[in-house]
Amino acid sequence: MQLEILGNTQTITDQNGKLLIKTPQMEVRIMVYGPTIIRICVSKNFDEVDSSFAVIQKSLAELQYKETADTIEVTTLALKLIINKTPFRFNFYTADGQALSEDDERFGVNWQGERVINYRKLVTDEKFIGLGEKYGNLNRRGSSYVNWNTDASEHTITTDPLYKTFPFFIGLHSGLTYGLFFDNTHKSYFDFGATTGGQMSWFGADGGDMNYYFFGAQGVRNILADYTWLTGRMEMPPLWSLGYQQCRWSYMSAKEVLAIAAKFRERNIPADVIYCDIDYMDGFKIFTWNKKTFPDPKGMIDELKTISFRLVTIVDPGIKIEKGYKQYDEGVANNYFAAYPNGELYTAEVWPGQCHFPDFLNAEVREWWGKAFTALTEPGVDGFWNDMNEPAAWGQNIPWLVKFGEHFMPEIRNVYGMQMARATYNGAKKLLNNKRPFVLTRAAYSGTQRYSAVWTGDNSATDEHMLFGQRLVNSLGLTGMSFTGVDIGGFMGNLTPELMVRWNSLGVYTPLFRNHSAKGMEYREPWRWGTKNEAIIKKDIELRYQLLPYIYSGFYQSHQSGLPLSRTLAIDYTFDENVFDEKYQNQFLFGDSLLVAPVISPAKTADVYLPAGDWYRLSSDKKFRGGQVINVPSPLTNLPVFVKAGGIIHMQNVVQSTNEQGDGLLMLHTWNGSEANEFVYYEDDGLTYDYENGAFYKRTIRFDPRKREITLSAVEGSYLSKYSTIQLHLHGFGRGVKAVREFANNRKQISIAF
Ligand code: GLC
Repeated sequence: MQLEILGNTQTITDQNGKLLIKTPQMEVRIMVYGPTIIRICVSKNFDEVDSSFAVIQKSLAELQYKETADTIEVTTLALKLIINKTPFRFNFYTADGQALSEDDERFGVNWQGERVINYRKLVTDEKFIGLGEKYGNLNRRGSSYVNWNTDASEHTITTDPLYKTFPFFIGLHSGLTYGLFFDNTHKSYFDFGATTGGQMSWFGADGGDMNYYFFGAQGVRNILADYTWLTGRMEMPPLWSLGYQQCRWSYMSAKEVLAIAAKFRERNIPADVIYCDIDYMDGFKIFTWNKKTFPDPKGMIDELKTISFRLVTIVDPGIKIEKGYKQYDEGVANNYFAAYPNGELYTAEVWPGQCHFPDFLNAEVREWWGKAFTALTEPGVDGFWNDMNEPAAWGQNIPWLVKFGEHFMPEIRNVYGMQMARATYNGAKKLLNNKRPFVLTRAAYSGTQRYSAVWTGDNSATDEHMLFGQRLVNSLGLTGMSFTGVDIGGFMGNLTPELMVRWNSLGVYTPLFRNHSAKGMEYREPWRWGTKNEAIIKKDIELRYQLLPYIYSGFYQSHQSGLPLSRTLAIDYTFDENVFDEKYQNQFLFGDSLLVAPVISPAKTADVYLPAGDWYRLSSDKKFRGGQVINVPSPLTNLPVFVKAGGIIHMQNVVQSTNEQGDGLLMLHTWNGSEANEFVYYEDDGLTYDYENGAFYKRTIRFDPRKREITLSAVEGSYLSKYSTIQLHLHGFGRGVKAVREFANNRKQISIAF
């Protein structure tokens, strides 16, 4: 195999803002997407169509560059890209000349056969965060990873690859930040100095172009804003999907589903969602119902609705080979399935037995798939769980020569699941008549946040997995995915009541709060753990419902700016070394004001690192100075959760589901602090797309410690809040002042001095 290097510059042309540089071997295109985003695409065979599954923006039509004897310099307001002509190298600097990231001088970009690699210089204090759902530490320095979407059942906490591909990381060094998104769907590799004796980092792929976006914004928040501008942001989720979700593989009959749902209501444990896993189907045939065990789906769902439960059902990609089965017949007749190059349909085994696999890369197939959801939406299903879409096939290695339209398997494997979620989301959205669909997918690629929430697949019922899961959620948040979760309680294995209680208490602060377990495992519902534990679980789920207004405003931030709800401390305390300490790396901010420290179930006390600033324990209002490690009690009844001084958290009284109107009281809790603080309160109907046409209720809430005043700006939007009254609760001010004001109907600015 030949090593092909970039060669030397032959010609440079500016084509409507695209800088085109030719070398004897390759073409390089440089495009600017904004002051802080520059794209480089090095190709042996550039495809003029230039499509991407992830990117939804176009490059600017203009670009500033100048050529010198040795270099080509592309500049924006914030960035400088200096391209060295001989040898060909790409080096990025801030506008004032500080090095952000540079090619390795010796190797830069090169090819070995179809494999393309970029070797980059490693800076002494450089750290790396990102890549989404990946094993290992928050700081990925010294680790290496492979992206190859895999049905990673029974994975451990060091398994790689897992289910998803997010080839995006953020580099941190010298007080500077940068990001790099390698938009290449082939099997890809990232090495953060693991196998190079710490000499350089590298990333590459088995095929395709060296196609990457360089982000030079300063501050992790700004890089996330740019990355999610480029790849899209999530829509507002349906409010009900933020409530408690009960899942199980499987509730075996309509009777069982109804009995479980009814039990939540009997015991006054709040919940919004129940799931049907694969056994609701007839022989695991997608878009069918088992006539014996689920004889009247609509009747069942209507009954669920009367007690304010929504139903989510699973769909897998594998279509059972069976003449007379609608999806099989139509798929074959229209050539909608993956095939070998000789035209034979590709067959592999999954739950239903021998299956064919829809070609979700084809728009017509996505359309067809989307329409088939009538089988689920007509009886009233509201949420669509996309599983096994790596795609999974028993035996795992789908042959490389299997074709999805024009694409061979190796090129599209990493986007297959995303395209299934896209088809599901678009189809369901059309069928649901202005209601927001809830889609949950296991496999994903960058940009999936536009269509779906994700969960981290088949974890295990251990403390170690609980902590690992939190790291995955935090890391997914660095790749545009805010609506994320793990199987709370662990999918495989049985857990102790203590771990169930602990995990559930962490679930309160997990964007997707879903309890799930595998077939053969003990049941996991809140009442299975004895009266005392049930009471704790119930109290924690109630806390989740009290926090829903705060959580919803948090999702509005994700929708607006790409900031995730669960935030690794590396987002806001980027250059604080302790944040990366293995002991504290699982800690995270949940929204703007809460800091959560996950703790294993046996630990009665916990060491918690509080970053700079003052903090209050949520449960007691006890104040702590930040910038230090504290040891605090961590009984099962009290997960260590802290509020930032100056933090504002808006809560409601407990409701049994998001469908309940509630008592109309919104409680604005404010913790004393010396710094001013503000956040955007956001509310809408939680159900439809009317918010896109102005039907929301939004106001900025400010805390001014100097004036000892809280102000609520005038309302923006046409929606009438469901909270008629707001009640101010003060913490740490020495006196528990409470003030009450009209909220929904008072749309003017409100100031409350105390
Ligand atoms: C896969 C999923 C799991 C589901 C099971 C049966 O293992 O990851 O969540 O319960 O399949 O559908």
